[in-house]
Amino acid sequence: MKFLTKASWLSAGLAMSLAVTACSSGQPAAQSGDQQNGQKVKIVFARGKDVTGASQELVSAFEKTHPNIQVELREMPADSGQSHDQYVTMLSGKSSEIDVFDLDVIWPAEFAQAGYLLALDRFIEQDKIDMNQYIKGAVQAGNFEGKHWTMPKFIDAGLLFYRKDLVNHVPKTWDELISQAKTQKGQGGTQFGYLMQAKQYEGLVCNFVEFNAAYGGKILDDQGNVTINTPETIKGLKKMIEIADSNFVPKNINTFTELESHTAFIEGQSPFIRNWPYQFALANDSKQSKIVDKVGVAPLPAGDKGSAAALGGWMSGINKYSKHPKEAWEFLKFMTGPEGQKITAVKGGSAPTYLPLYDDSEVQKASPLFENKNFVDGISAAVPRPTSPNYPKISEIIQIEVSKALAKQETPEQAVLNMASKLKEAAGK
Ligand code: GLC
Repeated sequence: MKFLTKASWLSAGLAMSLAVTACSSGQPAAQSGDQQNGQKVKIVFARGKDVTGASQELVSAFEKTHPNIQVELREMPADSGQSHDQYVTMLSGKSSEIDVFDLDVIWPAEFAQAGYLLALDRFIEQDKIDMNQYIKGAVQAGNFEGKHWTMPKFIDAGLLFYRKDLVNHVPKTWDELISQAKTQKGQGGTQFGYLMQAKQYEGLVCNFVEFNAAYGGKILDDQGNVTINTPETIKGLKKMIEIADSNFVPKNINTFTELESHTAFIEGQSPFIRNWPYQFALANDSKQSKIVDKVGVAPLPAGDKGSAAALGGWMSGINKYSKHPKEAWEFLKFMTGPEGQKITAVKGGSAPTYLPLYDDSEVQKASPLFENKNFVDGISAAVPRPTSPNYPKISEIIQIEVSKALAKQETPEQAVLNMASKLKEAAGK
């Protein structure tokens, strides 16, 4: 099992051996008939709600350098599971209404198996894209049955963000976090002590994965066997309940996704929040945030076994039924290549998967995470959710049982037992 140890990927110093190469993703792909005739081709790019404005900037930058392609940005729900369901409805109906779309790191196997995606191998070869320049795990997440179905866009890991002006000692363990959250609540204009994501949705699975791994639990073993019914998982879930049921989180924490939690944080309502890297850019956006320059970032607190971050992130792919696959590829290549990922990092605060960007001074300036030489190693050691074309079912089981345990409708022991038997049934084991 992999953990972010306090080997401290956040401490400066160690040299990271990243290959520095020219920022070129190769020659442009062949032009389509429409483009050769000088006509403008319109493609639609769909992604979840973007609160940072990076997507619009990315589209404008692309259109400037590709005058024959117009990109319409279509915003999908912020909730990953809701976006998922809308894509499945669209794509299972073979709709061509979107051309390029972002996929949560947990979807590619399912979407590839369902035949919703265009395989990207011939484009990657034709444009000589060196996939070794990308974070390995992020590339692998988009591979299924030997083919590339997506390009990695950005990588996520759960982190602890804290108010530098209120917190003197960053908590190293969940118990320290709990005691600080209790005393900090109400200080410096705050109303809460801690913010997390506890609604019944995908983000709940991520929060659970972190508590589970921090206390030594494992959902599946390397062979895919269900190994969740252990005292370690029960202990992790108990810690999660202790926090979600405390009086230092909002009373309606079971309605909180990233959106509600980051809004409360940038309003100055809490000294601590668990969130993804984009939180740093958002907290420093003076148009939206009341806490500019006041935020620090650290690994999540440790349980008995260490500190664990859930691995997240987004990929982008092409709709198999797109009427403009070549133009779709041009946009996808730009968005996930050096220029596009730089905008996503600098404006959006999300961590590049294109490794040479960690040597770019503007990217380094955008977040303390990106200038840290250990960040890539740390993020690559984050705990993945199970990989399976059947992931939605796995996620649903975890969401239901964890929600019931948080709502005290069943004991943590019962919730873990139920997860084990339902997961075994779903996996056919
Ligand atoms: C972030 C992560 C994604 C995860 C989601 C849960 O967007 O990148 O992988 O599923 O949060 O809310």
